[in-house]
Amino acid sequence: MPLLFFFFFFFLCSLCYASPGNLFPIVDGRDATTLQTYIVHVSRPKNAAFTSPEHREAWHRSFLPTATLGSSEQRMVYSYDKAISGFAARLTREEVKVMEEMEGFLFAHPDEPLVPATTYTPYFLGLSRANGLWNATKKGDGVVIGIVDTGINPFHVSFDDAGMPTPPKSWRGRCDFNNKPFCNNKLIGARNFARAASVHLPFDTDGHGTHVASTVAGNFVPGANVGGYAAGTAAGVAPRAHLAVYKVNQSSELLAAIDQAIYDRVDVLSISLVSPFYRFFHQNTLAIGALAATEHGILVSCAAGNAGPFQSTVANDAPWILTVGGSTTDRALRVSVRLDNGVILHGETLDDPNDFPMASLPFIFPGAGGHGVARLCTDRWLGGADVEGKVVLCMADARVPSHVPGQIVSLAGAAAMILANPAASGNTIMVVNPSSLPTVVISHADAMEVISYLSSWEADAGVGFAPKGTVYGVQPFPAVAAFSGRGPSTVNDGVPKPDILAPGVNILGASLTGSDFIVMSGTSMATPHVSGVAALLKSLHPNWSPAALKSAMMTTSITYDSEGNEITDETGRPAGIFAAGAGHINPLRASDPGLIYDLHRDDYVRYLCGAGYGDVEVSMVARRTVDCASMMPISAVQLNYPMIALVMVRSEKTNVSRTVRNVGPAKSMYAAEVDFPVGVDVMVSPATLEFTRANRKASFTVAFAAMGPVGPGTLLQGTLRWVSSNHVVKSPVSVYVV
Ligand SMILES: *[C@@H]1O[C@H](CO)[C@@H](O)[C@H](O)[C@H]1NC(C)=O
Ligand SMILES: *[C@@H]1O[C@H](CO)[C@@H](O)[C@H](O)[C@H]1NC(C)=O
Ligand SMILES: *[C@@H]1O[C@H](CO)[C@@H](O)[C@H](O)[C@H]1NC(C)=O
Repeated sequence: MPLLFFFFFFFLCSLCYASPGNLFPIVDGRDATTLQTYIVHVSRPKNAAFTSPEHREAWHRSFLPTATLGSSEQRMVYSYDKAISGFAARLTREEVKVMEEMEGFLFAHPDEPLVPATTYTPYFLGLSRANGLWNATKKGDGVVIGIVDTGINPFHVSFDDAGMPTPPKSWRGRCDFNNKPFCNNKLIGARNFARAASVHLPFDTDGHGTHVASTVAGNFVPGANVGGYAAGTAAGVAPRAHLAVYKVNQSSELLAAIDQAIYDRVDVLSISLVSPFYRFFHQNTLAIGALAATEHGILVSCAAGNAGPFQSTVANDAPWILTVGGSTTDRALRVSVRLDNGVILHGETLDDPNDFPMASLPFIFPGAGGHGVARLCTDRWLGGADVEGKVVLCMADARVPSHVPGQIVSLAGAAAMILANPAASGNTIMVVNPSSLPTVVISHADAMEVISYLSSWEADAGVGFAPKGTVYGVQPFPAVAAFSGRGPSTVNDGVPKPDILAPGVNILGASLTGSDFIVMSGTSMATPHVSGVAALLKSLHPNWSPAALKSAMMTTSITYDSEGNEITDETGRPAGIFAAGAGHINPLRASDPGLIYDLHRDDYVRYLCGAGYGDVEVSMVARRTVDCASMMPISAVQLNYPMIALVMVRSEKTNVSRTVRNVGPAKSMYAAEVDFPVGVDVMVSPATLEFTRANRKASFTVAFAAMGPVGPGTLLQGTLRWVSSNHVVKSPVSVYVV
């Protein structure tokens, strides 16, 4: 089996070899005779085209055991058309073993649940979210955005179809709400694939899918407001785009949903879900289904996952996916915290401003003695502290549901709570659900200040609050959110991820009740922002490939924050390519990128071959028989991606080539500009690109050579820009010296 080149930054394992097939064996915990759903990949018979879906399904059935199941249960769950070459069926492990010997069998793995990429429970808020960057009323017309998620609440005012055009003529989908007219010109498709759902209809019982759908394409809702917070008109990113919703829970259902969405002819797929395991692509159903959709011209945008801030936690990291990280905005739901020593700190809340005690009250930290449970306020004992009528400091923790400390402290008679970010959350403040106890969330740095104040003032410590309502212009913004999944990817051979950032902290969206709005945080919330922008771009440029749309968004992104510094992470340090990707989405600029880095089906196949996947694995991902030897494999860094991340042996020079296509003015002249730190010399040739026609291509080489005192283990990051009189086409560049 060919070898896989691995890409580990901090373990310095630059040349770890392993075969993709067995490095991360899929754990199949059930015993050999338990029936479960398996996803089975098979290779299409050579030179055989299926004349009908029945023909294809009959061939898939030929792999199944002849023994029928006891009950009325069917063996075949799904026979897939495009998402993979294969099917999902009810089988035992013993039966799969028998199947492995059959001609055409490739690989089988048990079905698994998908995880919504939101880590925080929903909270009510009355706040409008008008997209100031985009004149949305005219845009998104006629584009269909598919959402694969937990379903939808079709009754929410965000899905009203006032002002919406009829669905495009190409649309082939349908609405499965028991034939009731819950769909309209906004919600044009709704299907349920979640077989074990309590409601066998596309209704959302979770809230995640509804929130995501309203973010991507919710209609205008004037006067959305609750509580004491400012209000305005709420709208999705592409308020004139149509929505098609596919409800799923398991991987096998996701593949069926993608199959259906390709058939239905959606233009963009927004998937705020992650597979719970990081896997090689041939074992990753979302990655395979996304490639199938991409080959049908559908841009697939997915959440980077919420396992940050730790490195190599990025999910949905295939190069054909648009991987979206989450960042902060300039909006805060502000409460000032005034310590009795005169220090004023800024926290955030969703509670009614009138509920906060204004006068100074005694302030106490049950965890001052160092007791773990008392620090987290997860136990009624509270370190033996008397908190009656006082303000209590509790430390937040990713493992503790955010409503728990408030409940405990409230029961003990406290007047208010300050919930402090743990170190890993840094400056990313996520508001918590309003409860009986007014609660302010503060950053980790402010928490350290508060703890030192408490330890020096002890029983004399006091604190008061000054609610400020919704404030805008909070500096600096954007910053990468603590939870946002980080690269480098451990399975994609060095393609930098995530690709782009979008707002993902304290995002307002539709709820499960008729007209209320709620706040959620996560890369789940960032993803529909980018999917909505992709829909807007698609309406302007209907013929651009998914890679061209990605390139447009990535090369025009914002890389500096509101204070003029490189975008930072939750600690305030520069985030870099593996946290911020190409930067924060900039919709207006993305509509006119000048040059495009494009990619097509065979480029991805050559990349897979170059990344060390064997013919069988590549065939599974490509869903056709591939012979890598005839494909001219390329290494990941040579894939025509809009970012460059090179792993370089110090003594060697490396050339990386790229090709751009002119989508700006026919006559254009671009000059290369490189910003790169001392240590590695970066030369672009040719140094200018001249175009005389639209859609002409030009190739260039970036030559890298280590200079001077640059030791192994050094990571350097800079930027390559192609600059013309009216465009700047920019790519982040990183070099890791081994
Ligand atoms: C938005 O579109 C309308 C109608 O085309 C136009 O009158 C208005 O100037 C546009 N606004 C902006 C900010 O582009
Ligand atoms: C699938 O169902 C499980 C159990 O009900 C739930 O925890 C999970 O969030 C669901 N996932 C999706 C994508 O709906
Ligand atoms: C790298 O590119 C430079 C500039 O185009 C060229 O002079 C050099 O020969 C190339 N090196 C290799 C190894 O291809």
